[in-house]
Amino acid sequence: MALNDAVLPEVITTERLILRPFRFDDVDDVFAYARDSEWSRFLRILPRPYEREHAKQFIAQQVLRDRATHPSWAMTLEGVVVGGVNLRIDVAQRSAELGYSVARTHWKRGLCTEAARAVIDAAFGARPDLIRVHARADVDNLGSQRVMEKIGMVKEGVLRSSRVERGEVFDEARFSILRREWEA
Ligand SMILES: CC(C)(COP(=O)(O)OP(=O)(O)OC[C@H]1O[C@@H](n2cnc3c(N)ncnc32)[C@H](O)[C@@H]1OP(=O)(O)O)[C@@H](O)C(=O)NCCC(=O)NCCS
Repeated sequence: MALNDAVLPEVITTERLILRPFRFDDVDDVFAYARDSEWSRFLRILPRPYEREHAKQFIAQQVLRDRATHPSWAMTLEGVVVGGVNLRIDVAQRSAELGYSVARTHWKRGLCTEAARAVIDAAFGARPDLIRVHARADVDNLGSQRVMEKIGMVKEGVLRSSRVERGEVFDEARFSILRREWEA
């Protein structure tokens, strides 16, 4: 099977979560957490103030994207969308970039770790040619880096002054897990 033919599962079930594609009727759940400026502190590309319309646009993007290369999942807990996980797959490089977030009301309960781990397992499982999954975070985003460590990623280094967003310059930590590490 060629890498670009492989499609990851639409629904992934973990101990506490159901990960499934975003739907248009998720807009109020997404808006409820994404309007929180503390939640988007390190997500500097997001507009401020964050309006309901932005949540609609976000969902439209997720629905329209090709799931073969840009799969995303709404993280649902007891029927409520409390966050999201996504991958951007670079077919030529046989790699994928992982992203995740969860509503502030659910921070530090292990939910992103649980969701990210399940998505990595699904990605390496469904795509035999995939050799690497990587992720990046603002160096001050300690929670995100801890999630990366907990799912078995290794810190590759810090790119200094590598991003300018909302007029701020910041350093970015890069982490990755290789297929052979995942298999071990
Ligand atoms: C960063 C974020 C993803 C962490 O998700 P989470 O579900 O709270 O993380 P988990 O509960 O799985 O925690 C994993 C580890 O990180 C630690 N952690 C979580 N948030 C932390 C924080 N703000 N500071 C320090 N450690 C933190 C947890 O204690 C846990 O470590 P432990 O098991 O050693 O105690 C979440 O805070 C979030 O969604 N933030 C807003 C969006 C965002 O920044 N996304 C990532 C962009 S790169």
